Amino acid sequence: MTNQGLRINDNQNSLKAGERGATLLEDFILREKITHFDHERIPERIVHARGAAAHGVFQVYESMAEYTKAGFLQNPKVKTPVFVRFSTVAGSRGSTDMARDVRGFSVKFYTEEGVYDLVGNNIPVFFIQDAIKFPDLIHAVKPEPHHEMPQAASAHDTFWDFISLMPESMHMIMWVMSDRAIPRSFRMMEGFGVHTFRFINEEGKGRFVKFHWKPLLGVHSVAWDEAQKISGKDPDFHRRDLWEAIDGGDYPEWEFGVQIVEEEDEHKFDFDLLDATKIIPEELVPVRRIGKLTLDRNPDNFFAETEQVAFNPGHLVPGIDLTNDPLLQGRLFSYTDTQLIRLGGPNWHEIPINRPVAPAHNNQRDGHMRQTINQGRVSYHPNSLGGGCPMQAKESMGGFVTHTERIESHKIRARSESFFDHFNQAALFFNSQSEPEKDHIVKALRFELGKVEVPAIRERMVGVLAQVDKTLASRVAEGLGIGVPAKLDAPLNMSIPADGDAKDFQPKPANKPIGSSPALSMANTVKDTVKTRKVAVLAADGVDDAALSGMKGALTAAGAQAKIVAPRLGNLTSAKGKEVKIDFSLLTASSVLFDAVYVPGGEKSVATLKGEADALHFINEAYKHCKTIAATGAGVELLRASYLGANKTIGENGEGDKIVADEGIVISRDAPVVKVAAAFINAIAQHRHWGREKKDQVPA
Ligand code: HEM
Repeated sequence: MTNQGLRINDNQNSLKAGERGATLLEDFILREKITHFDHERIPERIVHARGAAAHGVFQVYESMAEYTKAGFLQNPKVKTPVFVRFSTVAGSRGSTDMARDVRGFSVKFYTEEGVYDLVGNNIPVFFIQDAIKFPDLIHAVKPEPHHEMPQAASAHDTFWDFISLMPESMHMIMWVMSDRAIPRSFRMMEGFGVHTFRFINEEGKGRFVKFHWKPLLGVHSVAWDEAQKISGKDPDFHRRDLWEAIDGGDYPEWEFGVQIVEEEDEHKFDFDLLDATKIIPEELVPVRRIGKLTLDRNPDNFFAETEQVAFNPGHLVPGIDLTNDPLLQGRLFSYTDTQLIRLGGPNWHEIPINRPVAPAHNNQRDGHMRQTINQGRVSYHPNSLGGGCPMQAKESMGGFVTHTERIESHKIRARSESFFDHFNQAALFFNSQSEPEKDHIVKALRFELGKVEVPAIRERMVGVLAQVDKTLASRVAEGLGIGVPAKLDAPLNMSIPADGDAKDFQPKPANKPIGSSPALSMANTVKDTVKTRKVAVLAADGVDDAALSGMKGALTAAGAQAKIVAPRLGNLTSAKGKEVKIDFSLLTASSVLFDAVYVPGGEKSVATLKGEADALHFINEAYKHCKTIAATGAGVELLRASYLGANKTIGENGEGDKIVADEGIVISRDAPVVKVAAAFINAIAQHRHWGREKKDQVPA
């Protein structure tokens, strides 16, 4: 059919002057089809262009009426529909999911009182304190404008040039250089509202609030070498993971957390609540878990939903309000403004994914692609001809009333001195990491700065790092083959007013006693489940039946997935002659796409795999990335033939019916497979065995 509803009789041939003749302009069917095709693309988001989304529901655990009058936070029986979009910031729409980057975590709540958007990230702080620096930050991180390189990567000169001159970014830099910036899955990352917001209760009492999303599967990340390889093997790794989990009924879940601070306590911290480069450490103000988000439905159409969804931190409901955080204030302008161009006009709220479930009545009219057919002659207020409708709503009837805040001040372009401590929390984050996490930060900085071409930028950056932690700076410097500069040559603080004196505006050194915050380390996350973890089972013809079915059964019962990876596709014939479906060939699978590896016995199967370089590489690489590896029966021989054997990691262990489980390597020659499976599952739940990294530099 054409878009006018006309049935098309021939969708194969355009209208021509004879069978071999030119195409006629008259062909309105051809023209309609091509014209629509020509206009299929809209501008991608200026930031967060790459993303994936899903539908779900939110339910509060108990009424939060004491703190907020927000309707969706009152009744545990109410299920509020949500649409959640995860994204990366720097890359274009087609870029890899595995870039080292912040992840967007945007939640649109379709509440009975209107749409509420919580447009957050998976990192609780931001690079800059004031929205006026946002275009500079984004210009610096995006591909460099003369040659448009590199794509979706911060490892280049303009980014580090900017960062090295912006000490306020240092806390965020610690997070972005940590493994938080390369999550294992969207389902295994935290989310944060970042800014301090306000809760307002029915009595009009306001309190400060920070928002958190805590994933029930824990917070887990991949290794940087792995991330780079995944980018080639499956650039859709995260969106595929989200899609498949929901498709398979493994609905991702997060608990909604709040840190609440009384208004009178606003100034009791040694940082400013309005400064988006700071967290409130959970040890100071605990995170109270107040509800649950469950994603249970994939979108029907990527463009109509994921691409056209329009978030905005200014989409509020009564009971939730803003603060004067200067980053948040700028965002309130930016999102509406950018959607005007991205979605083509002021009527984007009428696109189905953006429509509130609560009815929206107002006197806004017309504009590009208006969908609503407003009736009557009245489009103004006050009016008598329309009976005064639509009327203003009293506060008691759910009308939004901005929280009254006393402001008495000069009009001024300046930053409060309480924003000048740029290093204490950066140091707190670094100090709170486990040793492997610290090593990863050092390596990430060596990598990123190693890609920087201008030596002065590297040196300046190392100098700024020394303000955070001297050992960190010297370790990074060592990898770059430079020293740590004794002093920094330029004023560090870019927020000096033109007529200010640089020395009065210098960031304070990290001279306070630095504690540590266990909540900041992923080493302390949930490690008691293997739900949705992917295990590769390396097998070939002649595989041991009992081992294969026993291990598959145990893994599936624990909620993990076992996928058979073999030298070719099709079916395997097991030792007992049974046909077993192969999920992937060694060509289409790779260890980086799995969480763990199991090698069952079967002399013939193992002999075949020993002759496959890709099978040995699979083991070596999984070992390098500190994943759990198990082998039973003759499967132990494949491990011996790999780097593990060459390195004597498994030596003579694993003989008889003993089970050897050491740093994520679980082997046994003859133990019953259920027993080995129990040890294997326990080791997979640890996510990774980072301790191996220090001992073995695996050449894979
Ligand atoms: C705490 C700081 C910030 C956070 C957490 C944040 C988060 C996000 C997220 C998650 C998105 C993706 C929305 C989606 O999924 O469609 C986004 C988009 C965007 N952000 Fe931010 N952002 C921050 C700061 C800013 C600032 C300071 C500005 C500008 C002043 C800004 C401008 C934009 C723009 C223009 C988009 C594209 C929106 C669209 O086209 O739909 N952001 N941001």
